[in-house]
Amino acid sequence: MTNIAVCPGSFDPVTLGHMDIIQRGAKVFEEVRVVVLNNSAKKSLFSVEERIQLLKEVTKGIPNVQVDSFDGLLVDYAAAVNAKAIIRGLRAVSDFEYEMQITSMNRVLNEKIETFFIMTNNQYSFLSSSIVKEVAKYHGNISELVPFEVELALKEKFK
Ligand code: PNS
Repeated sequence: MTNIAVCPGSFDPVTLGHMDIIQRGAKVFEEVRVVVLNNSAKKSLFSVEERIQLLKEVTKGIPNVQVDSFDGLLVDYAAAVNAKAIIRGLRAVSDFEYEMQITSMNRVLNEKIETFFIMTNNQYSFLSSSIVKEVAKYHGNISELVPFEVELALKEKFK
């Protein structure tokens, strides 16, 4: 049986911090499904199709990574693809409370699916899609923060 993990997020857009987590997750699990889900607390800049397209481009060199989207509960997606694990990145203590809340909720919804946390590489501990969008909006340099394809897509959005 393939050891599948789901790596969920808004990915609006994918950053180098996300890439760090995806790459490291792909070394541990046989298959990683990066899935774009709706976060009802966030308003997105990129459409789901655009986010998927960017994720596909930037993960094409990692053979055991698949990209998908789902409109519904994360645990329902995980069960549908036979994933036993969810991977989340942790940047700082400030992430902890929110992550504990959704992890606990997901466990109540489906106790068979376990959440694993990967500590983000120190160089990305301050990085988020929101901060990247803020810098890009005012034409700041984002080349060290996102993959090249994402940099181009953000420049196009804010030109
Ligand atoms: O990148 P994000 O915005 O921190 O990711 C959050 C996300 C999309 C993983 C979370 O909001 C989510 O799982 N949304 C789908 C609905 C769901 O299952 N919520 C968890 C139970 S409260």
